[in-house]
Amino acid sequence: MKKVRIGVFGGGRGKVMVDQLLNHPDAELVAVCDKYEPILTKCKETAESKGVELAVYTDFEEFIKHDMDAVVLANYANEHAVYAVKCMEAGKHVMSEVLPGETPAQLVKLIETVEKTGLIYSYAENYCYMKAPFEMWKRYRRGDIGEIQYAEGEYIHDCSSIWPDITYGERDHWRNRMFATFYCTHSCGPLITISGLRAVKVVGFETNLNTEEKQLRIALPTNAGIEMITLENGAVIKSIHGGLKMEPGSVNYQVYGTKGMMESKRYRTDKQCDDRFDFNIYLEGPKLCKGEWEHYAPTNDVGANVGFKSEGHGGSDFYTTHCFIEKILGRPDGDWCIDVYTAANMGMCGIMAWRSVLAGNEPMDIPDFRNPEEREAFRDDVACCTPEVAGDALLPHTSHETLEFPDEVYEEVRKQWLREDSKISDLF
Ligand SMILES: NC(=O)c1ccc[n+]([C@@H]2O[C@H](COP(=O)([O-])OP(=O)(O)OC[C@H]3O[C@@H](n4cnc5c(N)ncnc54)[C@H](O)[C@@H]3O)[C@@H](O)[C@H]2O)c1
Repeated sequence: MKKVRIGVFGGGRGKVMVDQLLNHPDAELVAVCDKYEPILTKCKETAESKGVELAVYTDFEEFIKHDMDAVVLANYANEHAVYAVKCMEAGKHVMSEVLPGETPAQLVKLIETVEKTGLIYSYAENYCYMKAPFEMWKRYRRGDIGEIQYAEGEYIHDCSSIWPDITYGERDHWRNRMFATFYCTHSCGPLITISGLRAVKVVGFETNLNTEEKQLRIALPTNAGIEMITLENGAVIKSIHGGLKMEPGSVNYQVYGTKGMMESKRYRTDKQCDDRFDFNIYLEGPKLCKGEWEHYAPTNDVGANVGFKSEGHGGSDFYTTHCFIEKILGRPDGDWCIDVYTAANMGMCGIMAWRSVLAGNEPMDIPDFRNPEEREAFRDDVACCTPEVAGDALLPHTSHETLEFPDEVYEEVRKQWLREDSKISDLF
């Protein structure tokens, strides 16, 4: 069978997909595009070590003309929808890194482009495929805990020590302009996926800012974003994400249903604590308040035939790329892909939560973009925190006083990045 020919756009995080594609029996990595040439050199060397002649591009417009079936988008997090549309208009299937889009208008356009072209769009929310949430997804589908009533998702990741390596001292890098509830799909995404339900309403919160001197030296007054989300059946989700102080960071999920609950293993510092189990589930029996616990490390038969599995992010990085390839080939593992409607719904939780924050935590409805009529009010809605995108509809990127940093702070961050340059592709 013919292999799927895939190109990767953005070679920082994209290096993980480059490695996986070079080692997948059904894929052929054909091209990589990044404007930062040292990244291209690294990708080319890696490909050559596997006997693969890789085409490299610094210009997207040239890259997209390359003869290939599909593109992995690992470019800037706020530009995925824009480039996904360009890729599909050029006839390529798309797998998109997080986030799906920056504005409601972009998400409407993205959905309509998928519908118009009939091409595959797969959202690479890898946290859905971590061991515990993937097991929760399967067991929820089986009906084990009944109907969801409440869930919590947590992604605590303090990036301050790697900030120079991931923002390069660029004042306008998307990470420096990100609002508190933007990067929401690692925490709410798995819960929406597990439940199979649509988010219909959100209340957003921004914590106060961490303005310790160490933080301000790198122009990073960290905070966290919180979304309280209502699902279409009335269940409530708490989603929290951001750079709070905890090492290592925490990725944690709990789902309560009408017949029981499931939870992942939260990081614990207490060595006495029993942390052998990755997944825990409580199931109530025939009598009220009487049930059994199961504790185990889940195994997975998805992708069992593939020898090399990327171990990044608890092994989850393998599944996004693998399931995308399988979806294109029309095979069963492709059923685990996250479609454009679910992706847009996850992204809208953060976008509308930010509007809620700015309106003093007022609840905001999340439209159903499956319904063409509900798209109309959002078709031209470009409000966001990026001036070049929002124009007159520019939103502030914090609800607190905006701290301005002089150029020297960014220059110092840039110097730190240049000193650390050789580490760039080891980060992801
Ligand atoms: N799912 C995860 O666990 C995870 C982890 C890390 C990063 N990410 C995502 O991966 C994406 C990339 O993040 P990153 O950490 O590599 O940092 P980044 O966003 O700074 O890097 C983007 C890369 O794309 C290149 N690029 C962007 N626009 C370009 C253009 N128009 N032409 C040519 N090259 C262009 C940049 O040079 C850079 O190398 C982001 O969307 C981020 O959210 C996801």
